[in-house]
Amino acid sequence: MSNKFTEDDFRWMKQAIELADRGRGYVAPNPLVGCIIVSSEGNVVGEGFHERYGQAHAEINAINSVRDKSELIDATMYVTLEPCSHTGKTPSCAKEILDLPLKRIVIGMQDPNPLVNGEGVAILKKSNRFKVETGCMEREVRRQNEAFVHYMRFQKPFVTLKIAQTVDGYVAAPDGNSKWISCEESRKKVHEWRSYYDAVMVGRNTAQIDNPNLTVRHVEGRQPRRIVIDGDLSLPANLNVFTDQHEQKTIVLTHNKEKYEQTADPMLQLLKSDYFRGETVLVSKKEGHTDLNHAMELLGEMQITSILVEAGSQLASAMIKDNVVDKLHVFIAPKLLGGGTRSLLGVGRDRMEDILDLHDANWEQVGSDMLLTGYF
Ligand SMILES: NC(=O)c1ccc[n+]([C@@H]2O[C@H](COP(=O)([O-])OP(=O)(O)OC[C@H]3O[C@@H](n4cnc5c(N)ncnc54)[C@H](OP(=O)(O)O)[C@@H]3O)[C@@H](O)[C@H]2O)c1
Repeated sequence: MSNKFTEDDFRWMKQAIELADRGRGYVAPNPLVGCIIVSSEGNVVGEGFHERYGQAHAEINAINSVRDKSELIDATMYVTLEPCSHTGKTPSCAKEILDLPLKRIVIGMQDPNPLVNGEGVAILKKSNRFKVETGCMEREVRRQNEAFVHYMRFQKPFVTLKIAQTVDGYVAAPDGNSKWISCEESRKKVHEWRSYYDAVMVGRNTAQIDNPNLTVRHVEGRQPRRIVIDGDLSLPANLNVFTDQHEQKTIVLTHNKEKYEQTADPMLQLLKSDYFRGETVLVSKKEGHTDLNHAMELLGEMQITSILVEAGSQLASAMIKDNVVDKLHVFIAPKLLGGGTRSLLGVGRDRMEDILDLHDANWEQVGSDMLLTGYF
């Protein structure tokens, strides 16, 4: 961290980061952004965050929240992400800021969106009206917007794989039952995560055996889209994800071209009583299964920026092997099964030299479980 920032700068930026987080689950494909305006006397006189996709940006909400505009004279604006330079669904924030009598603007990180990418900072600096400094708590801001940063860079969703296993590494008993390995608090946390991600993904066996809803129920929050990989397109039509009130939010990925073309024919669909109102997407086939890399490309084109995968061992292993996972969450419950389905069935590593090392790994306790989080 650069020493151009003071303890106060870090304190206000931390507050702006916390504010930004209130938009989580509601702003994608836009980033989370928070903004605090601190008067020359050191008081917070304005604050705002990006609340909903398509609505006002954090800086504009913060400016509008200032009751006495004279407090803006010589004030400092703390904003987690570079103010935008382009006019999109809302006007350019950098241009709106130009009219303010501020003294200093402290920015968390440059906006990686190619439409901005330094241009907002350039507009502000060129005006010669305020001191503009970028990089305050950049690491924290980057982590907060990990999905957005990834999507901007690769145009593919940021993928988090969640596994709940016993101490001895099993995700299901020998009879296939996996309810419940993790504790209630962990399951609640998963519901919270679901509300933050654009979509939740499962494979066909999990969809069939568990018949999950994949909805947000244990906490308040936005319902994500649901992605089911059904390579052969043969899952029963009466599963919850195909029939409940969120049916239209379900996306089925298949590599079966013949059956896919039937689903795309409106006349054939009208004849069916169990007509599926969600979306079916044709993906290439790889070694007999749905090609996961191609799937991610197509989902990126559909503006899905983040996916939480709640996989069984086949899908979890294939995703790691095919290098499509960015972040891993493993709940380890203080329970033993001594047999059943292992969490992973091989990820293509045979030698210690090839071991997959997670970076930025950390542990926390959730109820009676241990939660490991790390990055690939
Ligand atoms: N404890 C937990 O965290 C947890 C979470 C979820 C599920 N489960 C349990 O896990 C069990 C189901 O797991 P599962 O492993 O049988 O099924 P699964 O996770 O549903 O995985 C099967 C899916 O993986 C896809 N896939 C893509 N590439 C693959 C490849 N190279 N090899 C194999 N599959 C590939 C398959 O695609 P195609 O359709 O194209 O073949 C298929 O849709 C259930 O008992 C469930 O209760 C436990």
